[in-house]
Amino acid sequence: MAARRPLIVGNWKMNGLTASLGEARALAEKAAASRPVAELGLCPPATLVAAMANALKDSAVGADVIKVGGQDCHARASGAHTGDIAAEMLKEAGAAYVIVGHSERRADHGETSEMVRAKAAAAHRAGLIAIVCVGETLAERDAGATLKVVTAQIRGSLPDDATAANTVVAYEPVWAIGTGRTPTTAQVAEVHGEIRKDLLARFDEGAGFRILYGGSVKPDNAAELMAVADVDGALVGGASLKAADFWPIVAAKGLQ
Ligand code: PGA
Repeated sequence: MAARRPLIVGNWKMNGLTASLGEARALAEKAAASRPVAELGLCPPATLVAAMANALKDSAVGADVIKVGGQDCHARASGAHTGDIAAEMLKEAGAAYVIVGHSERRADHGETSEMVRAKAAAAHRAGLIAIVCVGETLAERDAGATLKVVTAQIRGSLPDDATAANTVVAYEPVWAIGTGRTPTTAQVAEVHGEIRKDLLARFDEGAGFRILYGGSVKPDNAAELMAVADVDGALVGGASLKAADFWPIVAAKGLQ
């Protein structure tokens, strides 16, 4: 099994207008100049997926330095689903990834693991890498249910066709997202270790899946979090909006 290539993905959530594309270009320039070890992705709002993909393609540094992703997709390829976006549409717009099952989608839109699993399968059908998010709430952690909750989400949200190439797992404790709070490195190691065990038990390629940590990853804590066993990169929200904040996080995984 080849070593897992680290992956650092920015999730812009519902932030960004055309003017923000300059941040993507600035990041691409930094990456082109110092060739990070990690693969890089940016997931802007759906309105900017095509524009960002084109902006990176047209820039001298090229689209291969940073890949673009969506933040959600519908399980179906087309149909009467007002406001939804199919994985095939993201793919055509230039996306390489799509985030599915983010806790904000699970909480705000009532997405169940069963729905997330169908969305991940849709991503695979369209040729996208699914970044499947899982994570416990503070109440679940306080009740000692973290491993049980995360394991159930992993089992429920990953389709049987998941491979190390088409699926990435992101562990994001809900209480760490946007709060400035992070788990201890021991807590991160415990959950990532459990996820790895579960992947190994279910998939032949279980050792090859990348498992990202997400939740208040910042320039000043990235190195510590990224050094934890079985942490193969980060899913970054707030600190991904500005290249100046995101770049030190990328650099924490190493430069060539
Ligand atoms: P945060 O968000 O980095 O702003 O905490 C992470 C995420 O929700 O993916």
